[in-house]
Amino acid sequence: MAERRKSMHGEWSSRWVFIMAATGSAVGLGNIWKFPYITGENGGGAFVLLYLLCIAIIGIPIMMAEILIGRRGRQSPINTMATLAKEASHSPHWKFLGWSGVVAGFLILSYYSVIAGWALSYVFRSAGGSFDGASADEVGAIFDGLLASPESLLAWHTIFIVMTMMVVARGVRHGLEKAIRFLMPTLFMLLLILVGYALNTGAFSQGLEFLFSPDFSKLSQDSVLVAMGHAFFTLSLGMGAIMIYGSYVPHKASITGTTFYIAGADTMVALVAGMAIFPIVFANGLEPGAGPGLIFVTLPIAFGQMPGGLFFGTLFFVLIVFAAWSSAISLIEPAITWLVENKGMKRATASIGAGIVTWFVGVGTVLSFNLWSGYKLFDKTFFDLLDYLTANIMLPLGGLMIAVFAGWIMTKQATQEELHMHDHFGYRMWRFLVRYVTPLGVTVVFLNAIGVI
Ligand code: TRP
Repeated sequence: MAERRKSMHGEWSSRWVFIMAATGSAVGLGNIWKFPYITGENGGGAFVLLYLLCIAIIGIPIMMAEILIGRRGRQSPINTMATLAKEASHSPHWKFLGWSGVVAGFLILSYYSVIAGWALSYVFRSAGGSFDGASADEVGAIFDGLLASPESLLAWHTIFIVMTMMVVARGVRHGLEKAIRFLMPTLFMLLLILVGYALNTGAFSQGLEFLFSPDFSKLSQDSVLVAMGHAFFTLSLGMGAIMIYGSYVPHKASITGTTFYIAGADTMVALVAGMAIFPIVFANGLEPGAGPGLIFVTLPIAFGQMPGGLFFGTLFFVLIVFAAWSSAISLIEPAITWLVENKGMKRATASIGAGIVTWFVGVGTVLSFNLWSGYKLFDKTFFDLLDYLTANIMLPLGGLMIAVFAGWIMTKQATQEELHMHDHFGYRMWRFLVRYVTPLGVTVVFLNAIGVI
């Protein structure tokens, strides 16, 4: 390519910074909060196996595709899709894909922020000693009390939205970049400390068996779809977050190596979180299928009993907040860049606008845990519906289209150029995956979920 595009929003200073930022986006509530509770709800090992399979054959190829599309287009996902489609002599309507990503980002952030708010409130609970020596029942009562109070949930949700928009307004690069650098390794260390605690609960092997020994009879009709949806969710795929981060990647950085690093780190964090949580669940006679509150009713028991638990517990929830923070900014970045590019807004103005919209949608999630908990559609509350619609439908559909775009619309020459690969085995394998395996895989899972196959 004669001249390369440049992003008007800047570039990461190195490949390493991109890895940190993308890992910061990927590692979040999805790993520590969502993975354990959906694994619990879907019976353990067989579900984990499906999830790992989806990461390997669907997630990794799509992550490569998203990064390369982003870097080639160097604009907001909406404009990138239009530009690259035109470049390949296809309809600029492909920008629709960027739009659906922007909508998905708003919807996900609206409830993500409410859950991050739970973690925020737990920082203060821990520091104040509420969990000190608390029994499972006492911790459960504290959690139920939090959910029952729309005012508290709303206050924490508001604080988290403001935190997120403050970083976004400054630009992702200047925002969390430095903080992530030491917070992520610390989070991982604390998870290992929790695993150390779990080793002594007497239920460690039961926890491991639950996680890693597959019993396919425990899967439900929905499990395969949930596992695939979570592979997208946990890797931040299917809505343009990784695409916009990809648009800041220096040209010489290798996309393949980077992808494996991000996906590997993300998966490790989830598995280690699972290894810490399930032994605690079983040792205390709790229910693995307890739902979204799972980590909030189990981990405090552990911190309440271990030496130094006040310190570790507080630190742990602080780190979860940071992990959620660095994920949240990526959910809204595609929308912000579009507002800057097409509406000529300043980042700060765009952030305030996006923050207000997200906050309002989040009120629905806040109420779904108390005042609206009785209102259900398809047996799901507002929060359940949003989560299901985004993670299990919008992200896989977006991912499917991204794979089709990279495999069928973009020229071979363009993708080879971005991946720095010629016609050798790695490239052919990737192209085979995005052209056939990934689109087919997603379609089969969808058909399976609606009972056709
Ligand atoms: N991956 C993050 C987590 O696991 C959440 C997230 C950030 C996300 N950006 C995303 C999910 C984009 C889907 C799409 O917590």
